[in-house]
Amino acid sequence: MALALAILLVFSLLRATTADTNASSASFVFGDSLVDAGNNNYLSTLSKADIPPNGIDFTASGGQPTGRYTNGRTIADIVGEELGQVNYAQPFLAPNTTGRVILNGVNYASGGGGILNSTGQIFINRIGMDIQVDYFNITRQEMERILGEPKAKAFLMKNAIFSITIGSNDFLNNYLFPFLSVGERISQSPNTFVDDLINNLRGQLIRLYSLDARKFVVGNVGPIGCIPYQRSINKLKESECVSLPNELARLYNARLRDLLAELNHNLPRAKFCLADVYDLVLELITNYQTYGFKTSSSPCCGNGGRFAGIIPCGPTSSMCEDRSKHVFWDPYHPSEAANVIIAKYLVDGDNKYISPINLRQLKDL
Ligand SMILES: *[C@@H]1O[C@H](CO)[C@@H](O)[C@H](O)[C@H]1NC(C)=O
Ligand SMILES: *[C@@H]1O[C@H](CO)[C@@H](O)[C@H](O)[C@H]1NC(C)=O
Ligand SMILES: *[C@@H]1O[C@H](CO)[C@@H](O)[C@H](O)[C@H]1NC(C)=O
Ligand SMILES: *[C@@H]1O[C@H](CO)[C@@H](O)[C@H](O)[C@H]1NC(C)=O
Repeated sequence: MALALAILLVFSLLRATTADTNASSASFVFGDSLVDAGNNNYLSTLSKADIPPNGIDFTASGGQPTGRYTNGRTIADIVGEELGQVNYAQPFLAPNTTGRVILNGVNYASGGGGILNSTGQIFINRIGMDIQVDYFNITRQEMERILGEPKAKAFLMKNAIFSITIGSNDFLNNYLFPFLSVGERISQSPNTFVDDLINNLRGQLIRLYSLDARKFVVGNVGPIGCIPYQRSINKLKESECVSLPNELARLYNARLRDLLAELNHNLPRAKFCLADVYDLVLELITNYQTYGFKTSSSPCCGNGGRFAGIIPCGPTSSMCEDRSKHVFWDPYHPSEAANVIIAKYLVDGDNKYISPINLRQLKDL
């Protein structure tokens, strides 16, 4: 009897272990509004997307807003699906993101957040990258309690993909708005500011590594001079972009490429992939017709009127007819249709947009 029980116990332990550790992969998602899955719903902040028509095409919620800053799934959601994950990474701040749910991945991203702590002050509240890493440390401790230390470590090193999509707000809601930010930035040259960003990000990525993260994908900053918001405040024509924001993004992106090469070289058994969001989004903006879009300059939500492109997407905004024909959902964020194309390039594409390997190869390492 005791033996039978013991055998049963061993069997159920073995089963639990298999179920835990062969979960094909789990995403731990860090970043800003491009990938926020609802963390800002739990903050007192001016940066929110928990109002309709955001989420109108998000099947899992029946079209109700979830806090995602788009009409459907984010790039992180789609990448997770493509890699066979059981569920979307759940927002860290949601009260029910506890227990075994965290083994499917957790999302720490926050609209308005940046690499620097001071970024996004204009929104009053947001979770910057330093705090997002602190939060992951909390998740990791919970994971140790659930799986035990050695298994938690093995799970993180082998099954977990760490995606980081951050930096746009450091330019849009910090450097380019010096009058709203801490005084010292006003006199900083672009090079010094970018140095600051890269040094902070290096520290954040190394902290994640010290917490057993090994498989990373880091997105660079998109063509922030071409988003509808910029075109609108600068009264640009269909195919024009503002040059300073794009120049800053390219300056940062070149340094990011070097940083990831440095970390791939210096951190044993770590793999850092660079997602070239800049070139991908620029490709969609430039050749939108090739991909079946009707426009890349006017957003779907908030697309009419004089202030189109400035007022955030909400219940009173005008809505386009066909959401799948717009590259941009709102003045800042791509539509789900654009996110699908971007995500597929990252998962299965060649090293033009994702290097040194794509995300399917990263998962299978
Ligand atoms: C683990 O692998 C087995 C066999 O391939 C599969 O049936 C099962 O669904 C997997 N479990 C998880 C959680 O992925
Ligand atoms: C947590 O609760 C929210 C709101 O009720 C629900 O949409 C979500 O699916 C829940 N998450 C999990 C992992 O059960
Ligand atoms: C940002 O804030 C975090 C948490 O308060 C702190 O640990 C970190 O040192 C700060 N970073 C800088 C560069 O001030
Ligand atoms: C994680 O949290 C533990 C316990 O609070 C702390 O000792 C450790 O320094 C933290 N690690 C990192 C990388 O932040």
